[in-house]
Amino acid sequence: MVSAIVSALHVLALALGLPSVYFRGRALKGPLDADGLRRLLAADSVWGIAALLWIATGLLRAFGGLEKGTQFYLTAPLFWVKMTLFVLILLLEIWPMVTFIRWRVALGRGGQPDTAHARELYLVNHIEMALVVLMVFVASFMARGLGR
Ligand code: HEM
Repeated sequence: MVSAIVSALHVLALALGLPSVYFRGRALKGPLDADGLRRLLAADSVWGIAALLWIATGLLRAFGGLEKGTQFYLTAPLFWVKMTLFVLILLLEIWPMVTFIRWRVALGRGGQPDTAHARELYLVNHIEMALVVLMVFVASFMARGLGR
């Protein structure tokens, strides 16, 4: 029962994460007026929630004895491929995360955020999205014990 719920939440993280990173990218490409910024920051918040959900449910599934057991994952090369991709996303996310926090602060103070690097942020966002898609394939292969 717990394993099914945690598994559902892990998939739900994908249902939140992929659309939010897509819409964050779209907002970055569009005009960053008040409405554009509002859409961007809303998508960014959902992306953050998805990340937390991924980490919490993923750790529980891997090391909480809910699925195939810690030993299975620690010795599965594709688990490490998946973790490497995830760490890559986290590293890529540092710059957008810091930037969007600054933008929130600027807007909160009634100022205007500096959006000069929106195109570069779009590119980083796009790479993150591609890595999430790649992770889904790696996860599915890993879950079936492939690549061992
Ligand atoms: C962007 C982040 C992530 C994505 C897109 C993702 C995607 C997925 C998907 C689609 C599955 C289902 C595979 C299947 O049953 O066919 C899965 C399973 C799983 N994921 Fe993730 N995941 C992410 C993050 C994480 C993290 C951070 C961890 C661990 C720290 C983790 C650990 C697991 C485990 C243990 C399973 C169960 C595999 C099994 O059934 O044996 N995931 N993941």
